[in-house]
Amino acid sequence: MEVVILKSADEVAIYAAKLVGVLLKSEPGAVLGLATGSTPQALYRRLVTNYRDGKISFKNVTSFNLDEYLGVAQDNPQSYRSYMNRELFDLIDIDKQNTFVPDCKDNENPREVGQRYEDRMRLAGGVDLQILGIGGNGHIGFNEPSSSLGSRTRVKTLTRQTLHDNSRLFTKDEFQPKLAMTMGIASIMAARKILLLATGAGKADAVVRMIEGPLTAMCPASILQMHEDATILLDEQAATQLQNRDYYDLAYLQNESLKERFGVFDAD
Ligand code: PGA
Repeated sequence: MEVVILKSADEVAIYAAKLVGVLLKSEPGAVLGLATGSTPQALYRRLVTNYRDGKISFKNVTSFNLDEYLGVAQDNPQSYRSYMNRELFDLIDIDKQNTFVPDCKDNENPREVGQRYEDRMRLAGGVDLQILGIGGNGHIGFNEPSSSLGSRTRVKTLTRQTLHDNSRLFTKDEFQPKLAMTMGIASIMAARKILLLATGAGKADAVVRMIEGPLTAMCPASILQMHEDATILLDEQAATQLQNRDYYDLAYLQNESLKERFGVFDAD
């Protein structure tokens, strides 16, 4: 696990956009795993800016989103499909035919939809770079605490905490879904590289459990301890509870100078 602690949420977005840019320069047809929520919005804004400045193109990119609500039509502004169109897809040159969310219509069998999503990801060659946020309860995607660490795309029931955390995004009269289709933990772990973004004090507890706690289904993000190429990007506020902070800062400096030496960021 590489833990990178930056001063602000803005710096987190800039750093993450840089990694996406480096990947797309070397692999213009890369497969991206994308997340929704408040955290990646700054990253998407930065990617849009880089696209408008001619620094990056998504023309040949394929994307798979982590999750989608059940019982919310794709054209409903609350769907994650709508979020992605609004925050990113409508603002860049990606071919929407190559963008996928695990949406399950009312008349569809979620098991079959989940299987199809997994097959589609495999057919696309697997995810090269998976962007993740983290829930206040340690979830990744909508894999809530106690989710099987070996799970694949399926339906999950959202916890009270997740419903509470997300209630800010719904008006009082609006239907707030309690179920979602989500990539499983094993689906996420299959990505070749993982980039998890966490910003703000509300994430500090989940962050320390993910990085320094035991590997446990009660903190699904702790599975990233087992991933061979996971980078955790934090702002200062999300990093306040880390015990091993000095080491992460030291390792970050060493890694940056190694990357410079071996030209990892040359493409930028
Ligand atoms: P947030 O959600 O970015 O809106 O905090 C993160 C998540 O629940 O994964």
